[in-house]
Amino acid sequence: MTNDDWRRSMNNAMKLQASLNPNIDLTIYDANYEVEKQIEQIEQLIADSLDIIIVSPIQSKPITSVVKKAMDAGIPVLVVDRKTENQTYTAYLGADNVEVGRNAAKQIIASNPKDSIRIVEITGLAGSSPAEERSLGFRQLIGNSDKAKMVDTIQGNWEVESIEEKFRLLLKSGAKIDYVFAHNDRMARGAWQVARDLDMENSIEFIGVDGLNTEGGGIELVKDGILKATILYPTGGDEAIKLAVKILENQSVPKNNILTTTIIDKFNVDIMQNQFDKINEQRTEIESQLVAIKRQQEQYYAQNNLLKITMGLAAIILSLAVYSIYSIFAIRKKNRQLELTTKKVTVQRNQIEKIAQEVKESNEAKLNFFTGLSHEFKTPLTLILSSIESIADTAKEKGYRLMNEVELIYNNSNRLLRLINQLLDFRRMEDRKFTLKVSQTNLFAFSKAIFNDFKHEAEKRNISFSMNNDDEALDVYMDRNLMDKVYFNLLSNAFKFTPDNGKITISVRNDKEKNTVSIHFKDSGIGIPEDELKNVFQPFFKGSNNRKNSSGVGLHLSKEFVELHKGSMEVRSKHGTEIIVILYKGRGHFDDSEIIIEKDLVDSMELDFGSDYIDDGSYLITPNDSSKEKYSILIIEDNTDLSLFLKNKLKPEYDIHLTDGTDAIEKAFEVIPDTIICDVNLPDKNGFEICSILKKDWRTSHIPTIILTALGNKESYLEGLKSGADLYLTKPFSYSILIQSIKSLLYNREKLRYYYTNNIYKLDQKDSFGNLEQEFVVKLNGLIRDNLDNTDFSVEQLAEAFDISRMQLYRKVKAMLGINVSDYINNFRLENAKQLLENSSLTISEIAYKTGFSSPNYFSTVFKKKYGSSPASYRKAI
Ligand code: FRU
Repeated sequence: MTNDDWRRSMNNAMKLQASLNPNIDLTIYDANYEVEKQIEQIEQLIADSLDIIIVSPIQSKPITSVVKKAMDAGIPVLVVDRKTENQTYTAYLGADNVEVGRNAAKQIIASNPKDSIRIVEITGLAGSSPAEERSLGFRQLIGNSDKAKMVDTIQGNWEVESIEEKFRLLLKSGAKIDYVFAHNDRMARGAWQVARDLDMENSIEFIGVDGLNTEGGGIELVKDGILKATILYPTGGDEAIKLAVKILENQSVPKNNILTTTIIDKFNVDIMQNQFDKINEQRTEIESQLVAIKRQQEQYYAQNNLLKITMGLAAIILSLAVYSIYSIFAIRKKNRQLELTTKKVTVQRNQIEKIAQEVKESNEAKLNFFTGLSHEFKTPLTLILSSIESIADTAKEKGYRLMNEVELIYNNSNRLLRLINQLLDFRRMEDRKFTLKVSQTNLFAFSKAIFNDFKHEAEKRNISFSMNNDDEALDVYMDRNLMDKVYFNLLSNAFKFTPDNGKITISVRNDKEKNTVSIHFKDSGIGIPEDELKNVFQPFFKGSNNRKNSSGVGLHLSKEFVELHKGSMEVRSKHGTEIIVILYKGRGHFDDSEIIIEKDLVDSMELDFGSDYIDDGSYLITPNDSSKEKYSILIIEDNTDLSLFLKNKLKPEYDIHLTDGTDAIEKAFEVIPDTIICDVNLPDKNGFEICSILKKDWRTSHIPTIILTALGNKESYLEGLKSGADLYLTKPFSYSILIQSIKSLLYNREKLRYYYTNNIYKLDQKDSFGNLEQEFVVKLNGLIRDNLDNTDFSVEQLAEAFDISRMQLYRKVKAMLGINVSDYINNFRLENAKQLLENSSLTISEIAYKTGFSSPNYFSTVFKKKYGSSPASYRKAI
């Protein structure tokens, strides 16, 4: 249908009309002159249940039944332009084709003055109603006319190609033709062209149908003189849509809707063209308006959508705002609840903290109480142990044998002491107050010493007790004090749980590969149940099969001590218990600050109760020779038992002065003793304070002071040193060590005295000692030197200068320099006089007065007494 401008024009008119009505959805199918195709398309439309079908049947007969089918299916059918065979359709719209034929005949007859008009009819497609009806109308009039005569009829199919050849042949056959009536303008134009090709166009007139106002359309052909006339055959596209709408709206419509037709010839062609142009203009206008409307519609839809979106967003924002407000109130409410809960929780937490603090304090108080109590135990234990030691010493000296009970007391006191120490160690371990002091120690000697401690018990109970050592030369770095506790604890346990006649071994193994040494303590005791092995090192652990008394801290402490050495402990239980201590060899795993140098192990100072002493019940100590001048000792101790014990013990060799600490300072100033032994925990000032005061005073600064206390920790030891104490001994102390310490201090004092007396002049040099004693001697010498020529210069004046009493000065000088103070002044004068005799030319009497002697005679007497010759002979002898 490419050249079919008539159908194109009809389609456009339909589209335009449909576009005016938004309810119409128009689809146009082109069957391209193929009847079968048209039937298929209609079938499909029926299947799709279209609202209405507009059909222009290519041929009447084949389309009739499918139109009926649509009608039967309830789909209205509007037949346009060409008809079906019967009237089974809703309505028909089209021009009256019989009238079209008649108009053509009228035009030919009317416009032709000739008597005879020879006519050729070129028909449309056979079987299509316009071709049939146009022929019918045309022939009706031609047949009635005298002058019109049909020459030939050429069967066409509406298109040029179908008639060209046939018409050419006709013309060429020499047939005389005046007029050609073609059923449409396209075929008329084609026939004209054939005639023109044969140069016959001027002798033949042509008339067509359609009268389209398009390029090459009927109106143009009339205007160009190609056609004599054209019969207007309106497409009726717009009317078809209008009619379809009416049908759909159930309006009553006529069955046949006939469109007007008219002849267009050179007389009316301009008017017609004009009118059609106007119609076209209007259509164009309508189309552009439609486009504008469509654009506006699109804009409207877009804006509408935007508005909807905006409204939607606004609604969301509004609801969010409402929700936010609701949330704010809800959150505020929740916050208030939360605050309340927090307050409650805080109050509860504070209560818990308070309770926890109270529990902690009460625990602390209990622990302090136990610790204090343990410390308290130490003093009486010291007394007991020292007394026994002393008894044993005396007995040994005299060759007495001691009672078994004494040994019992000694052993049990020691045991008690160990238990107390264990408790204190546990507390110290908890407070992390242990610092290691490791020293190179021969492991064999160390183990052997402790092994020996237990040998006696093993013999008594017939326990096979042995020690294996695979390397007797092996040295290990260990804190001897702590490892002693570990050994002692493990062996005590082994002996506790091993029955009489059992077996205990200590095996020391040197593991060269691992660079460790392991010490195995194996017994044949009751062992530990398998499932409890993992707990043995927990504090307060007690095996379920253990019926004996035990505190449960020993193994725990041992493990802590071993771990302080970076070592480890293991336990096995098979035919008894085996505890293994594993230590690293070498010193690389210790800090330098932890390493100290200690002497090689020497035999322990254990008492030997096993010797054959004769027991005559005499523990009394024979007093020493009382005629000898004794050193004096001031004992500051509030435990009367201990101070009396010490007094009793020391009395034979020393002058003992006692104070319970309430008047310690006064007593020290009064006595100016040669040594002070001072406890720490005292009722008034503590021992450190007392020591500090005494060490800062001229009168007492020279006195060696021993601090004797139950406080064994590092802090106390440091405090003792800071206070100026010369020695720090912890309870329980060994009596023999105390005695030895006193002796050493006095001996050192003696050595110092010797030095002072032999270096009187050198002592003036400030930097030779740098302590209070040095200052004292320098000041003393200075005062004497300043008064060297003052014969009245007295000891009282000297004491006054030091702000101490004459007696205190006397004792101080005596203690420090081993000489009484007036002799010291005299010696000073004589020493100076001797110097002057040696180095000056002064006369003897001048020297006598210059060095403070009241007369030259007296000077000579004293000089001779000291140096063995008179000043004159001394000078001569130089
Ligand atoms: C278009 C056409 C017209 C004619 C009509 C008859 O297809 O051939 O030229 O007037 O059909 O149905």
